[in-house]
Amino acid sequence: MGKVYFVGAGPGDPELMTLKGLRVLRRADLVIYPGSLTPREAVEEWAPDAELVDSYGRSLEELVELMVEAAREGKTVVRLVSGDPFIYSSVYEQVRELERAGVEYEIVPGVSSVNAAAAALGEELTKPGVSQTVILTRPAGRTGKPKGESLRELARHGCTMVIFLGVRYLEDIVESLLEGGYSEDTPVAVVYKVSTPEEKIVRGTLADIVEKVKEEGIDRTALIIVGDVLREEGERSHLYSKEYARSVRR
Ligand SMILES: C[S@@+](CC[C@H](N)C(=O)[O-])C[C@H]1O[C@@H](n2cnc3c(N)ncnc32)[C@H](O)[C@@H]1O
Repeated sequence: MGKVYFVGAGPGDPELMTLKGLRVLRRADLVIYPGSLTPREAVEEWAPDAELVDSYGRSLEELVELMVEAAREGKTVVRLVSGDPFIYSSVYEQVRELERAGVEYEIVPGVSSVNAAAAALGEELTKPGVSQTVILTRPAGRTGKPKGESLRELARHGCTMVIFLGVRYLEDIVESLLEGGYSEDTPVAVVYKVSTPEEKIVRGTLADIVEKVKEEGIDRTALIIVGDVLREEGERSHLYSKEYARSVRR
């Protein structure tokens, strides 16, 4: 019996694959990858000897059948997932089916687009005295979103917010965030295709971001990052204060 590995493919740059993921890819027989988010050239570089299948346009059932069949033939299968599998990846649905079929699996983490976006902005998303909390969320769309998780509700916290899968609905999102309590001058960054050659960063405020993003023609594959951390310096962190260093030495 073979095994299925769910591997975080990172946000696009082939160098953002982990060493662990690369080791698994090097010995994979079959790699299923999300062609819309992970370039085929990257997959060919990571897994030169494997059979490659683009998951775009295939149903979950079809993909699970492919994985189960290959594992039953004793093959090592890698299911690449854009970014990290911990968020908006449908991994849990696939894992459930593999468990039903008695196929062994393992999840290998990757670099999420949120990590890469913060790096591209040159920012830390938490700053002492400004925000110590990051909300990762998405607009409701067709996916069921529990009550109490509406953007307007979440905006009440006023902390840093990262919105996935939302740039197409930017106008509605801005409206909900303002209704929830962010002020019009709250900084926003929209980060498109981070870590790829097409990367674009648009910075603005809740008052002008819709226009700016429209001008750039961005309508997919972007993160919306909102909050005062994008503007403010923040207080000194205790971790690197002289007093803390002295007490640790003692
Ligand atoms: C289905 S979700 C997958 C998220 C993924 N699991 C992760 O950790 O980044 C796809 C959404 O993630 C964000 N995303 C994925 N790759 C991105 C990239 N390279 N640049 C900006 N946003 C990206 C966009 O919001 C996109 O609509």
